[in-house]
Formats: sequence, structure tokens, C-alpha cells
Amino acid sequence: MKVAAVIVAAGSGQRAGGEKPKQYQLIGGKPVLRWTLESFLSHPAVTHVQTVIGADHDADFAAAALGLTLPTPVLGGNSRQDSCRIGVEACAEHAPDLILIHDAARPFISHAVISAVIAKLNDVDAVVPGLAVADTLKQARAGLIEKTVDRSTLFYMQTPQGFRYQKIREAHETAFTQAAEGLTDDAAVAEFAGMKVSVVQGEARNRKLTTSHDITMANIELNQSQFAHRPDIRVGQGVDFHVFTKGNSLWLCGVEMPHTHKLKGHSDADVALHAVTDAILGTIGEGDIGTHFPPTDPQWKNARSSIFIAKARQLLEAKGGLIANVDVTILAEAPKISPHIVKMKSELSRQLGLATDRIAIKATTTETMGAIGRKEGMAALATVTVRLPL
Ligand code: CTP
Ligand code: MG
Repeated sequence: MKVAAVIVAAGSGQRAGGEKPKQYQLIGGKPVLRWTLESFLSHPAVTHVQTVIGADHDADFAAAALGLTLPTPVLGGNSRQDSCRIGVEACAEHAPDLILIHDAARPFISHAVISAVIAKLNDVDAVVPGLAVADTLKQARAGLIEKTVDRSTLFYMQTPQGFRYQKIREAHETAFTQAAEGLTDDAAVAEFAGMKVSVVQGEARNRKLTTSHDITMANIELNQSQFAHRPDIRVGQGVDFHVFTKGNSLWLCGVEMPHTHKLKGHSDADVALHAVTDAILGTIGEGDIGTHFPPTDPQWKNARSSIFIAKARQLLEAKGGLIANVDVTILAEAPKISPHIVKMKSELSRQLGLATDRIAIKATTTETMGAIGRKEGMAALATVTVRLPL
């Protein structure tokens, strides 16, 4: 039995706002989308996980899916309905028997709900998880109640919505060719095509993150549980120096900036990322950059320093660790760092999977004293706090 999952993540998250679309914002140290993907990838019955992303989301998707084995994402449409149709179509090659269509913005999806939807598809062609309406419902117009609505037959719809693959594929195609728009979930597409749709019990936890408040609360909830399980607090430091050489740009925290010189090094000589890498390694007693990436090894020549960060993160995560904060100070007479700090923070946030309010990047000159003051090179210092399980 092949079970595909389509994760629709092509929305722009207008209601949530923020620097990035909500599915790429961090909750509990990971992008919303990553929590969603991990839940489906780790479910034993799911055989294929297809993501649908928005235009210009490639870099954010790559960061969110780092290290996960996934098919190439497909580009979504202008409406959720369109994105779902495209995602369903993209699964054709996998030839699934069943398909689950899920909102990326529901990161708390449990294996229990996924299993319940799959199990029900033994008996029916279409099934949605739903929650009974708990509050009293009224119909009102112009501020005046007209009547009390019988809530006993009303349900809040959740995802994943599950279907026999060919049936929903045809239903989406029918809705598309008949230009039936505004179908806000796949059950509505199935209903439009005349299918019968069953309801199984959803979970209150499987809510959709819609507003910035939803994201803040989800972040608090996940941080609370993650930090509570990691009472061992460690601090690491990292220091690095590089000299200037002929060139016209240099790299700091993964951001390239123009300068009269470049920094000399075996790799891209990103002095700040090197200090951060050593600080992370320092928290777990795992040596330093040179231990893992010997400068004598030609394969690291001109390497991007993001691979050093990724290695340090991987070693930390293998021990169940989590970064709590990073504080970087750059010592340089020139170039002027402050115009680049916002971009540097956002890049470091992406590489570390760490919210920007847990990252500080500062810069200082040495008041023309010493080698750095004579512009012979620059240095960076980093302090990192991590949390580990006992
Ligand atoms: N979605 C999509 N393609 C669209 C619109 C939405 O794939 N054209 C996805 C979203 O990424 C989200 C899910 O459908 O995972 C549910 O949609 P919603 O919560 O409305 O997300 P957004 O459309 O991104 O948010 P908003 O409506 O606030 O702009
Ligand atoms: Mg929307």
C-alpha cells in the first residue's frame, strides 16, 4: 500500500505577517514546515512526502528541509485549491493508492491522527479529521441575533484530509476544468465532484497557525518542553583571526560584503562563522574546526563556512543538544559592519535554526591599536550557550 502526503506550503501567510511566510518562521528552534515534514516522514505508513512551495521560497525551503530526504518541491498556485491540485498531480509518478493532503501550517499533527485517517480509508474514499463545535453558535445580522444554530451537526475541519488517490486527482481535475474556485479544503473539492466524505476525530492540538499570536504561543509551548528536557547548560567560546590579502570582498556570517581586501584562508575565511563553529564545538568538547576539517585537506579549499556550522550543529544534535543563544563580536577597523548586521543575523538564524532574538552580532574597532588597528586583518569572538539532556 503506497500512501503519499502532499504538504501545501505555498501561501504567503498574510495574516501572520513577519519577516518570512509563517511556514518558515521558527517555533521551538525549527521552521514550522520542518515540524510538519518530520511528522509525516517518521510515520511508518507514509511512503512519499511531496511539498508544494511558493515562488522565491527555494532558499527557505532548502533550510527548512536540510538533511531530510525529500522529492524536489513543486511550485504552488494562487489559491490553496490550486496548490493542492498541483501537489496531487506531482504524486502521479509515485502511483500512490492513498493520498493525504495537509497544511504546512499545522505543525502539531500527530501520528495518531495520520493513522486514523489512513485506517478509515479502508472503508471509504474520502475522510477528514474534524472537531465538534464546543461553543454555542448564533446566526446574526447587523449586530442582531436571528437564531441559535444547532451545533450538534457542525464540525471544524482539519487536515490531513485523506483520499483514494485517483478519486481526488479526478475531483481536482473536474473542479479545475469547470473553473470551480473558492473550494477552501479538499473535502469541498471531493463534495463538488459528488464524493461522499467521512469525518474522523481530529485533535485540538492539530490547530492551524494563522496569526502571529498563534506562532508566538506555539514557540513558547515547544521551547518550554524542549528546554525542560535539557537541564544541562553549557557555554562555549570561539576565537578566530584572518589576515587581509588582495581582493575586493569578504565573507562574514555567511554574507558577502564589498571591501578593499579579502580575508585570506583555506576556506572562504568567514572569521565570524569560524568563531561560532568553535564555540559550538566547545560546548560539547568536540575539538575545533581543524579537528574536523584539517586545513591540509585539499577538499576544504575554498569551502563555504556554512558546512562547518552544519557539522557542529550535527554533532550537537546527535547529543540531543539545542542552542540557546549565540553572541558574536567582530573586531575590525574596516569595513563598517553595522550596515550588514540585519542580513548577517538572518543568515546566521537560517544556518543555526535559531530565532534572531537569540542571536547578537556586534562589531568594534580596536581604536587603531595593534595589528587589527593597522588593518592587517580581523578577528571574531563568539560565545554560545547550549542546553543538553542529562
Ligand atoms: N497554501 C498554499 N497555496 C496557496 C495558499 C495557501 O499552499 N496559494 C497553504 C499555506 O501555505 C498553508 C495552507 O495552505 O500551509 C493553509 O492556508 P492558510 O492558513 O490560509 O495560509 P496562507 O494562505 O499562507 O495565510 P494567509 O491566508 O493568512 O495569507
Ligand atoms: Mg490563505
